[in-house]
Parts: sequence; structure tokens; C-alpha cells
Amino acid sequence: MFRAVAEEDFDLVYSIYMEEQVNFYMSFEKTSKEAFKECFAQLRSRDKFLIFEEHGDTAGVITVTRGKWRKYHVATIGGIAVPAAHQGKGIATRMITQLVELLTQEGLKRIELFVESDNPKAISLYKKLGFEKEGVLRAYFKREAQAAAVDELVMSKLL
Ligand SMILES: CC(C)(COP(=O)(O)OP(=O)(O)OC[C@H]1O[C@@H](n2cnc3c(N)ncnc32)[C@H](O)[C@@H]1OP(=O)(O)O)[C@@H](O)C(=O)NCCC(=O)NCCS
Repeated sequence: MFRAVAEEDFDLVYSIYMEEQVNFYMSFEKTSKEAFKECFAQLRSRDKFLIFEEHGDTAGVITVTRGKWRKYHVATIGGIAVPAAHQGKGIATRMITQLVELLTQEGLKRIELFVESDNPKAISLYKKLGFEKEGVLRAYFKREAQAAAVDELVMSKLL
């Protein structure tokens, strides 16, 4: 079940996104709570910023940004994270499957996402869920701790 992230969820979201195994694949560096406020506000300004709950517990988070005008049928999903302690139990599979159902009901025709080329787990997850690789954004994702930027894959699923 999904619920919208509320202002009061700041600490919860911060703790998930700052986990080492999660943050490595997020588009922002590990940072202080104070500095994360701006990021949290940006995430909350997306069309959807959702917490996925199972059995009353937080199981994952995900964002959806819908295109405008001639791209109104397109949704970009991002910020996908499952806390390390819960990974490998099928949570992301269920979360994305349910989100795809929801977006289908809302009339979306295309879901796209961006994933780092050094994230084999996420890439196989997306492929398993029917997303196809469309292209590569070269040297797109640069972590502070690494000298070189890594490539980013563009993947999509047509509904
Ligand atoms: C990627 C992530 C969301 C997956 O969440 P999860 O709940 O652990 O994923 P699930 O258990 O539903 O699915 C696991 C799927 O990932 C893939 N997978 C899991 N472990 C893998 C591994 N070691 N190597 C390759 N693929 C792997 C498989 O396709 C697997 O499906 P299967 O079990 O049916 O074979 C989670 O690991 C995470 O939050 N990672 C850090 C943040 C991140 O990478 N976000 C995505 C950014 S684009």
C-alpha cells in the first residue's frame, strides 16, 4: 500500500536515503539533515513521493514525475529505495508492480527511469519487470568519492 510522504516523514526518509547501500545509487551525496531539507522539499514537489508500506512497516520509497503537455502520457520514476535490512525480499518487485498498475489506471502510456550502469541489481530488477534499455547517457553520474563519472542507462516500459 502506498501513502504520500508527509512533512513529518523527514527523519524516516533521511535515514533510508543516507544508508550507505542506498545512497551510493541516489543522485545526491550523503549529507547533514540540515542540507537534506532542500532535497526533501524538491522530492516532495514531485507529482508523487510515496512510501510503500507492507504490514504497517515502511518497505520502500519511490517518486513519480509526470510529463507536461505532449508528454503528459509519460511518467518518470526515481528515488527508488528499499532499506538495506529489507532488500532481497521482493519488496521493490511488489512496489514497482503496484505503481505500474496505478499509473496504468491513471492513463499513463510510458514509464521511464534512469539507472547507473554499475547497479546490476536494479538493472535486472527493471528488466524482470518489463523495462527495456533505450540508451546510454555517457559519463552522466558523478560521485564525489570517485574520479570518473559513470554511465547512466535510460530504460522504459510502454503501457
Ligand atoms: C535495487 C533495489 C530497489 C531492489 O530492491 P529489493 O526489494 O531488494 O528487490 P527485489 O527483492 O524485489 O528484487 C530483487 C531483484 O533484483 C535482482 N537482484 C537481486 N539481487 C541481485 C544481485 N545480487 N545481482 C543481480 N540482480 C539481483 C533480481 O532481478 C531480483 O529478482 P529475483 O529475486 O526475482 O531474481 C534495492 O536493492 C535498493 O534499494 N538498492 C539501493 C538503491 C538503488 O539501487 N535504487 C535504484 C536506483 S535506480
